Amino acid sequence: MKRQIATLGYMLVCGLCLCGMSAEAQQATKTAPEIVRSSCYMCHSTQGNNPDLGFIPRLAAQNQTYIEEQLKAFRDGSRADPPAMIYMWPIVQALSESQIKQTAEWFASQPPPTPFPPSAAASEGKEIFLHGVLDSDVPACASCHGEKAYGNGIFPRLAGQNSQYLLAQLLYFRSGVRNDKNADIMKQVALHLTDSQMNAVADYLSSL
Ligand code: HEC
Ligand code: HEC
Repeated sequence: MKRQIATLGYMLVCGLCLCGMSAEAQQATKTAPEIVRSSCYMCHSTQGNNPDLGFIPRLAAQNQTYIEEQLKAFRDGSRADPPAMIYMWPIVQALSESQIKQTAEWFASQPPPTPFPPSAAASEGKEIFLHGVLDSDVPACASCHGEKAYGNGIFPRLAGQNSQYLLAQLLYFRSGVRNDKNADIMKQVALHLTDSQMNAVADYLSSL
């Protein structure tokens, strides 16, 4: 009898704990696919292979370390371009460290995004990507992002990324609103690129 009462008491306490669990605590117990389905898929799609939606990046096969770094940059406010502030800042406030890791791992392990058809400017873009622009001190993008633009670690994958998004980011590096701790190199690179060179290289990358 005593034991039954104790068990009952235990169940009651546990029940109370579960009912009274904050939204934050409930969020903390979700698995990666659950977080993605409740908080990310509306914009990035579940597998991160969203069709061209202008300023929304594809996350499929993006490098895990890079994704984690960006989520932290949204959280600490150092990535401060307008779409980042409007769309990503509120979302990352609700993510714990382990959820940042979980969602990054999820998107990194999805199949690569489907390439977009190349535009007429893509061949000029390929030249810039592989060899840089000698006259204006632009280094070969491939030296950091890799020959196939798959990236590595903090260097993002650019292959198959939405071209409008890529172009926007190059402009944000140039104006300095994207100013997270790994952005210094790109701020320099973007300063030396013209708008039409940015456009060409973005078009090429989206076709890979
Ligand atoms: C309401 C739309 C929306 C939702 C929901 C959303 N995002 Fe985003 N996300 C964006 C936009 C827009 C950007 C581009 C921000 C910019 O231009 O700086 C972005 C950028 C990112 C980036 C940077 C990608 C890169 O290549 O640098 C990551 C990583 C990211 N989101 C992860 C997530 C995760 C994880 C979730 C869910 C927990 C999520 N997002 C939910 C709209 C959204
Ligand atoms: C010396 C190394 C280096 C070179 C050269 C370089 N990049 Fe980058 N790139 C980086 C790093 C590091 C980041 C991540 C910056 C951050 O976290 O804010 C980055 C980020 C980017 C992004 C943002 C991607 C995203 O998903 O938001 C774009 C676009 C980009 N680079 C394009 C280029 C292009 C185009 C060139 C050549 C003209 C180039 N990069 C040359 C190191 C480099």
